[in-house]
Amino acid sequence: PDARRDEAIALVRRGMTETPDFPEPGILFRDLSGLFADPEGLPVVGEALLTVHDGFGPFDAVAGVEARGFVLGTAAALAGGAGMLAVRKAGKLPGAVLTERYALEYGTAALEVHPDTLPAGSRVLVVDDVLATGGTLAATLRLIERAGWEVAGVAVVIELDGLDGRAALPDGVPVGALLTL
Ligand code: PRP
Ligand code: MG
Repeated sequence: PDARRDEAIALVRRGMTETPDFPEPGILFRDLSGLFADPEGLPVVGEALLTVHDGFGPFDAVAGVEARGFVLGTAAALAGGAGMLAVRKAGKLPGAVLTERYALEYGTAALEVHPDTLPAGSRVLVVDDVLATGGTLAATLRLIERAGWEVAGVAVVIELDGLDGRAALPDGVPVGALLTL
């Protein structure tokens, strides 16, 4: 397992670009498009995301946050034999959706899910590419709670040190990262 995790970390480092001052001055933008395009990237990292914390327990679905979390969440869902819950940016889903607003590292936005997507009590592992301020993932956890599902944990590829994103998440939720930068 450690060798697989090291392999995943090496793939992330190889497939990540870092661009200063994008999309705004002062922001160092990390992008994993190269990892996604690497044939080894998604299978290895999808599996490794399931092991970034030993307290996740069983889960029925992996939630991926639009947009970059869709790619990683799907990879993790396939690796874990689970379903995939698409947490959408506001305005994309029809019907009686739940909405949670949040402040992003740059700008504000809202996320939505439809509460009928999974059965009540489903356990959901939440996956995204980056944990920065934690606003995105905190909103996602609120949606899962409001929908009547349980949070199995949070798994991200990259956690940004210094922004204290973990503090934005509820106590007791297992949070793991493949890489801290
Ligand atoms: C980015 C990133 C995370 C989020 C992290 O998403 O993919 O989802 O910001 O920031 P936070 O911890 O401060 O909330 P963004 O919505 O910018 O873009 P995306 O649609 O490409 O995923
Ligand atoms: Mg995102």
